[in-house]
Amino acid sequence: MNLKDLFSKKKSDPHCSVVIVAAGSGERMGADKVFLDLAGVPVLARTLKPFQDSECVDEIVIVTRTEKLSEVSDLCSSNGFTKVSKVVSGGATRTESALAGVSEVGPKTKLIAIHDAARPFITKELISSLVSCADQFMAAVPAVRCADTIRIVDDEGVITGDTDRNYAVQIQTPQIFDADIIKGALSYAVTHELSLTDDSSAAKMMGVKVHTVSGDPDNIKLTVPDDLIKGAAILKSRGES
Ligand code: CTP
Ligand code: MG
Repeated sequence: MNLKDLFSKKKSDPHCSVVIVAAGSGERMGADKVFLDLAGVPVLARTLKPFQDSECVDEIVIVTRTEKLSEVSDLCSSNGFTKVSKVVSGGATRTESALAGVSEVGPKTKLIAIHDAARPFITKELISSLVSCADQFMAAVPAVRCADTIRIVDDEGVITGDTDRNYAVQIQTPQIFDADIIKGALSYAVTHELSLTDDSSAAKMMGVKVHTVSGDPDNIKLTVPDDLIKGAAILKSRGES
């Protein structure tokens, strides 16, 4: 952190570490998503920049596949991502990778943000509103309202249940938690081999009230090849392509 950043950071700011989970295999995309080129910049570099630039963030830990450790470290040093303190190996599931990351944050950490490397359109503004909410409530996630009607189906695709769309939201990352809570929750989930789709499920399971803040419709996760077309449109709308 340079001197200007040091003085602009309020004394009361909680020490916040970010865990970027980047150890997936990109099966649905058919490629390693983290190193895909988005208008000349690798996905992982786009994902890291708003965290590097955010005055709410003190440290970044990246979790990647063992064979990518040195490639990720090189990307960090060549792009000046000075907040990256560690690059560590992930696990077979996203929850194991998240646990590997939260186990490596520094001792001063009060809040841990966990973010999908595959969401490169995250903004500093969303990071900052999540940190404020997590500082107040211990657990904060971004949520966007559902435009479509949401129904539950069985294995044959037959509708078996309803949801009230007024109360249905789609949850994104980064998800930010009190450090002790999320470490305990992810350890419990991994020890009990629970299959969870996000980190807030682990926190909720421990009885924590997870608060939502307004997410960003552009904060998409690159999952299938069509998402690259959406991504190109987002970059264009931001004047970045
Ligand atoms: N992830 C991880 N460790 C795993 C699985 C996933 O760190 N064992 C990370 C991915 O790298 C990604 C994020 O979790 O940044 C969200 O996962 P997903 O979109 O499912 O990515 P992949 O697992 O890579 O894709 P797929 O499921 O299609 O193989
Ligand atoms: Mg996956």
